[in-house]
Amino acid sequence: MRVIAVGTFFAFISLSRATRVLWDGRAPFNYTEADLDASDGPYLSVVKGTQNASHYVSFLGHSVAPTPLWAQPEQTILSTIDNTSIFTPGSSPPQTGFRRGEIIAQPYAGANRTIFDSEIETGISTFHFSIQSVKALPLNYTHEYQVVWIEPTDGTHVFDLQIGTPFNTTPSAASHDLKIRTHNRTVIFSTPFVPEQWHNFAVVVDWTRLTVRTFYSIGAGHLSAVSPTVANTGVTSGADGQGEFHFGILKLPLIDPSQPAAEQGDVVHFGIQEGDKEGLLYSGVFVEGAGTEI
Ligand SMILES: *[C@@H]1O[C@H](CO)[C@@H](O)[C@H](O)[C@H]1NC(C)=O
Ligand SMILES: *[C@@H]1O[C@H](CO)[C@@H](O)[C@H](O)[C@H]1NC(C)=O
Ligand SMILES: *[C@@H]1O[C@H](CO)[C@@H](O)[C@H](O)[C@H]1NC(C)=O
Ligand SMILES: *[C@@H]1O[C@H](CO)[C@@H](O)[C@H](O)[C@H]1NC(C)=O
Ligand SMILES: *[C@@H]1O[C@H](CO)[C@@H](O)[C@H](O)[C@H]1NC(C)=O
Ligand SMILES: *[C@@H]1O[C@H](CO)[C@@H](O)[C@H](O)[C@H]1NC(C)=O
Repeated sequence: MRVIAVGTFFAFISLSRATRVLWDGRAPFNYTEADLDASDGPYLSVVKGTQNASHYVSFLGHSVAPTPLWAQPEQTILSTIDNTSIFTPGSSPPQTGFRRGEIIAQPYAGANRTIFDSEIETGISTFHFSIQSVKALPLNYTHEYQVVWIEPTDGTHVFDLQIGTPFNTTPSAASHDLKIRTHNRTVIFSTPFVPEQWHNFAVVVDWTRLTVRTFYSIGAGHLSAVSPTVANTGVTSGADGQGEFHFGILKLPLIDPSQPAAEQGDVVHFGIQEGDKEGLLYSGVFVEGAGTEI
């Protein structure tokens, strides 16, 4: 990403389109729900509940316009969760505390994602994503949601986009904000999740210097730097710090005061979920190699 800084780091910038796309998750118009069920092409669709992936994720054709930020045609993606969205990882117990349904970036069906992740997470790379709320499928801001992140095998997040009330805290005005958090959950940018608008993010990760920086805009607005470059305290350097790029809804439970203390602390397997169907729209999801110009 080539940025033209005018003055301070909060200055308006413009983004060159002539850059290197390392992975493109902007859904082509010929991508179907059957392709998703088969984890074809750019999406691995295994993090979900008991139903087929297409029960949870829809490609909206021309019915909902994607973010106007990018010239490239794409389908908007509707990602939903419901009470069946309980993920069972491998031979581990079902994650009954969470409701989750995510798409993981992959280059093609069956690709080695360790190799792929190392290709998109070397040097400096920029993670682009745009989200919009869905009037008919609102989130419940009493809960915590994580809706975009990079997850190394230790289960931490290199960064994430969080919405709602952090687990085991009290709802506040900030519960309605979109928040970009670093590895240790420090919020480096927050903004109200205004409805009926595309919220565009670009998170620049320097995998060598171990820093992150956030760019943001609404609608067709040019991306602007909204945070300085900050040390991503606690991340692991090298292969162990690289991980899968997820987008979709992960909804944490509320603590159930009637459960024993050990269960109250086991966010993955216990707690309160109302079981409602909820959704988010995604578009403009891709990864860009930033070169050295940032
Ligand atoms: C969509 O069309 C492109 C270009 O013709 C092709 O390369 C790609 O395989 C098609 N994708 C699907 C999922 O059919
Ligand atoms: C998933 O899709 C396949 C193929 O369309 C269908 O046979 C199967 O019944 C579906 N499974 C569920 C759980 O709906
Ligand atoms: C949601 O699913 C859980 C786990 O299967 C179940 O215990 C609960 O009764 C369900 N809630 C609703 C509202 O259906
Ligand atoms: C993927 O590639 C990594 C790194 O080269 C290798 O260690 C691993 O065995 C490969 N995984 C599979 C399933 O082939
Ligand atoms: C949101 O969750 C809280 C806590 O469980 C619940 O009391 C409330 O009814 C939920 N709101 C909606 C709109 O579902
Ligand atoms: C957490 O990370 C932030 C920025 O990533 C950093 O400024 C802060 O010092 C870190 N806090 C701790 C306790 O390491």
